[in-house]
Amino acid sequence: MTALLELEDVHSAYGSARVLHGVSIRVDKGDRVALIGRNGVGKTTVVNTCIGAARLTRGQIRYMGRTQSPIRAYGAARSGISIVPQGRRIVPGLTVRENLLLGAATGRRGPWSVDAVFGMYPILRERADGLGTAMSGGQQQMLAIGRALMSNPDLLILDEPSEGLAPVVVDELGLSLRRLADQGTAILLIEQNFGLIRAVGDRHYVMSKGAVVEEGHLASLTNEELKKHVSV
Ligand SMILES: Nc1ncnc2c1ncn2[C@@H]1O[C@H](COP(=O)(O)OP(=O)(O)OP(=O)(O)O)[C@@H](O)[C@H]1O
Ligand SMILES: [Mg+2]
Repeated sequence: MTALLELEDVHSAYGSARVLHGVSIRVDKGDRVALIGRNGVGKTTVVNTCIGAARLTRGQIRYMGRTQSPIRAYGAARSGISIVPQGRRIVPGLTVRENLLLGAATGRRGPWSVDAVFGMYPILRERADGLGTAMSGGQQQMLAIGRALMSNPDLLILDEPSEGLAPVVVDELGLSLRRLADQGTAILLIEQNFGLIRAVGDRHYVMSKGAVVEEGHLASLTNEELKKHVSV
């Protein structure tokens, strides 16, 4: 089977600062993959390298079997890979609806529309004409996910979506991501929150100091083992 996303021995840098030294990750159709690791090990840099915001210095990145070099964020979205960035990045000055519409810019067809996102997260419908940044952290996270879905991705990459959210909100987030996965959207979840990793993930990769150092199935990791790989 052709992988949706494949990183093969990826090395990358910001300017002359080398950050990744050997990251190999594969995500197939319908996969639920967790990428875990402590603060600063390079998790976000994996995403940044995929979209060309960090410089690929060695190795290969393939979307649907096609080698990418160098790529940009819209290239990812056009290839069916959508990113929910760390910190959510809701665009200030735009309403909830306008933020969602930004996600549709690639024109990829599929089941997602503003209405479908409102169906998944009804609170966004209530807030549709208010500013996106005026909402709570959890609601903004829903908006960031909804915006990413608007490009009808085959693969959704989420970078620490639980950051700054109350535990009960993280639980709700887990349920909605689980539903998305059950409907067939592959998920690459970058996380440090145990509950969310377990609720969503099936396989995992562990990063340390810029490299993937371990991979396997989450079911075979005890909580003690999992704890060693995250900062919280
Ligand atoms: N734009 C940048 N320019 C230079 N160095 C950077 C840049 N962004 C990150 N770094 C460095 O790259 C390393 C990896 O950072 P990265 O943000 O990828 O880690 P992370 O695993 O996502 O951490 P966190 O869990 O805190 O989000 C860190 O040492 C960081 O200081
Ligand atoms: Mg990060």
